[in-house]
Amino acid sequence: MFLSALIYCYLCSSLRFGEAVLSAGSSYVAAVYEHRVFLNPEPRVPLSRCDALKHVQKNLDIYEEQAARAAKQGAQILVFPEDGIQGFNFSRLSISGYLETIPDPQQEKWNPCKEPGRYTNTEILQRLSCMAHGYNLYLVANMGDLQPCPVEPSSSSSCSPDGHWQFNTNVVFSSDGQLVARYHKRNLYFEEAFDTPPQTEIITFDTPFAGRFGLLTCFDILFHDPTVVLVERGVRQFIFPTAWMNQLPLLDTIQFQRAFSLGANVTLLASNIRNDHLIMTGSGMYTPFTATYHHARQGDPEEGRLLVATLPVLEESGGRTESTFSAATDSGYCQKDSCDYSSPPKTVPSSSFISSMMYDPFSFVLLNETAGKLEVCDGTFCCQLQYRQLPQSDSTELYALGAFAGTHTVNGRYALQVCALVRCAGRDSSSCGQEVEEAETKIDFRLEGKFGTRYVYPSILASGLVLEQPQHVEKNENNIVTMIHSDMTDGLVTACLYGRMYQLDNQ
Ligand SMILES: *[C@@H]1O[C@H](CO)[C@@H](O)[C@H](O)[C@H]1NC(C)=O
Ligand SMILES: *[C@@H]1O[C@H](CO)[C@@H](O)[C@H](O)[C@H]1NC(C)=O
Ligand SMILES: *[C@@H]1O[C@H](CO)[C@@H](O)[C@H](O)[C@H]1NC(C)=O
Repeated sequence: MFLSALIYCYLCSSLRFGEAVLSAGSSYVAAVYEHRVFLNPEPRVPLSRCDALKHVQKNLDIYEEQAARAAKQGAQILVFPEDGIQGFNFSRLSISGYLETIPDPQQEKWNPCKEPGRYTNTEILQRLSCMAHGYNLYLVANMGDLQPCPVEPSSSSSCSPDGHWQFNTNVVFSSDGQLVARYHKRNLYFEEAFDTPPQTEIITFDTPFAGRFGLLTCFDILFHDPTVVLVERGVRQFIFPTAWMNQLPLLDTIQFQRAFSLGANVTLLASNIRNDHLIMTGSGMYTPFTATYHHARQGDPEEGRLLVATLPVLEESGGRTESTFSAATDSGYCQKDSCDYSSPPKTVPSSSFISSMMYDPFSFVLLNETAGKLEVCDGTFCCQLQYRQLPQSDSTELYALGAFAGTHTVNGRYALQVCALVRCAGRDSSSCGQEVEEAETKIDFRLEGKFGTRYVYPSILASGLVLEQPQHVEKNENNIVTMIHSDMTDGLVTACLYGRMYQLDNQ
């Protein structure tokens, strides 16, 4: 190796020698907690600060138990989910009792546990800080931040008439309890209680055990800002609190988490809410090489889950990123109800047909033999598949190869190019694209597309919400992305190359 050690520069003066040098091949212990959040049964009714604190106490008590368990297993960093402290479905007014004004750690150093008197109305920050300090680990949580708008009217144009902002916010505490990072979510998902920050925030923090981490929240992961900005600045380790509603066949939590980590060649520490009514489950820790994850199944007790894993430190390659951007998936988390076919009608060869997958009109062809080669196009965007079903069984499951190039417009607007091999939910081609979790048919395949973007996220989902690591994914300089896989351990539900055409999002 040319570089046997990576030197990390710290701005802070309290650096002890030894912490700054991370040798290549070093590792750390990380934890994520999938939290069954105690909800406010009447989230739209304003409540007093005191009642809000009584409510969040229940969630913070669980956080404290989990911090203790994680610390016992050696965790150096612990991540809690989006909305895990107060829950969701608040109005702008009804969330007021839960908000705290979070000082900017880039402007001042503050340890809420050690200096509780510096700011009033910061009970949640103090409790989180004391957990980090007490259990000697970095702790990431998500809460609401109330910030006054600037006084100059010109710069406050994005400000609400009530004179302040309310942000969906990730906070990070170092292992001695200092508030070291604050990130305001950029891409809100129908969150009436919160404001979009006036500028996109690109926020990272350094750790002595693993170097730098970048911060994202939920829906952010599908968009260029801040996610791709961070990747292109060389950040290789991401913290991802989320409250994600699952949507098969392309946007189940663990499926997209895996896809993002592989496509960007980064580590992702993802912590989701557990709520069966809202179809929220699926958390994990993903590196380019490994995946440690949890995804509850129907009938499982509705409870939290702590995951702890030893992960390799990913080195940043001074300036330019080592990220590959070879593949990606589409996000299917948030829920939706209306169908909207805004794309013009397509003419398709007679063997192909159009069926809606996650509200987008995919062009499909059926896998009508046990082995073969197929192509399907949506306009000029084409996907190729070479496949062989194993064993040459008498399975009657129907599979289809789908292509979509266009802008997804239901519950969020984002431009896509997707190649997907899916198991159809039924025996009829009209069921292709519908949700299905189980499959018996194992398929060896080579899936390929020529994309109009470098940002393609690959994933393979097997029966029972099990992830498989693609054996081979490569992208050439013409953005032809190829995923090859064989010897599946279980039946294939979805194999996907999910391309994000960020450059078309605003057209
Ligand atoms: C939140 O709102 C969604 C959609 O309106 C609804 O389905 C869900 O039940 C609500 N959840 C809670 C906890 O009130
Ligand atoms: C992905 O990251 C790993 C670990 O940093 C590195 O060895 C590998 O070369 C990267 N892959 C690509 C295609 O850049
Ligand atoms: C399968 O589909 C291909 C292309 O649509 C067609 O050429 C072929 O004859 C079909 N095979 C069977 C067994 O129907």
